[in-house]
Amino acid sequence: DLHTSIDKFQFDNVFMNASGVRCYTKGELDELAQSDAGTLVTKSATQAKRLGNPSPRYARLELGSINSMGLPNEGLEYYLDYALNFQKANPDKPIFLSVAGLSMEENLAMAHAIEDSDFNGLVEFNLSCPNVPGKPQTGYDFDRTQEVLTNLFSFFTKPAGVKLPPYFDLAQFDQMAAILNQFPLKFVNSINSLGNGLMIDPETDTALIKPKGGFGGIGGAYAKPIALANVRAFSQRLDPKIQLIGTGGVTNGRDAYDLILAGASLVQVGTLLQEEGPAAFTRLTRELRAVMQTKGYSAISDFKGQLKVL
Ligand code: DHB
Repeated sequence: DLHTSIDKFQFDNVFMNASGVRCYTKGELDELAQSDAGTLVTKSATQAKRLGNPSPRYARLELGSINSMGLPNEGLEYYLDYALNFQKANPDKPIFLSVAGLSMEENLAMAHAIEDSDFNGLVEFNLSCPNVPGKPQTGYDFDRTQEVLTNLFSFFTKPAGVKLPPYFDLAQFDQMAAILNQFPLKFVNSINSLGNGLMIDPETDTALIKPKGGFGGIGGAYAKPIALANVRAFSQRLDPKIQLIGTGGVTNGRDAYDLILAGASLVQVGTLLQEEGPAAFTRLTRELRAVMQTKGYSAISDFKGQLKVL
């Protein structure tokens, strides 16, 4: 049984997509909804529709992927409309709406629109998009993060969490957790892609993707140890009311098991889902169940957060 929950929201499977992957159109979102995933999240939305960066803007790598999509999306209204219709048709399957404004004002305006809507799922405020030229990500600016969350939670009352970039220094975990603990967050999702990376085609000596001179976010197996450390570090520092979503480097059931050991209540899949499609959830579900059976566990709660250290 892969049942899990975040706050009052119940999910029958721990797996879901990572925002950005196969969640751009209503057709893609429907495919996720019909897969074995326990829930889904929409592509990070801006207020207005965006076309994103020039192609090629995603490339497969030996151990993962590089992308600099540039926040192509259909605009908040489109995803909010999808979510409102979805929740009417599937009252027992809560979903996530991802929001990524390029300014404080845009984030607050979108939060107001969601607050004033009938949306009754979870909102993921994305503080970690690395791919918009000239726009530093909020998650690496601690004062800015404090300011955004203060303004947001001055009026926003719906269940929400944040998507964070990877941190690498233990002092960063201390500082960020101290900020996050001041707010009524239901979850923290770690990690977004490793930004910025660069990969080169050895035949042509050319960067693999076009935007930003080839710089982009790195996902896939490259991210796994960093994702594990981020989930673990936050699970040790956050108020227990703030749950963890683990994202980064899942290519098999054991990877998901590890993120759950580190403290994750849900596991998101990015690069693998991009490469394999929604059938990836069927394989991951089978593999995670097999690991659990070998260990003698019948529920996620039997081993969540139970990492042993020497
Ligand atoms: C994009 C990439 C991200 O990692 C993110 O969090 C949001 C948007 C993008 O390039 O579209």
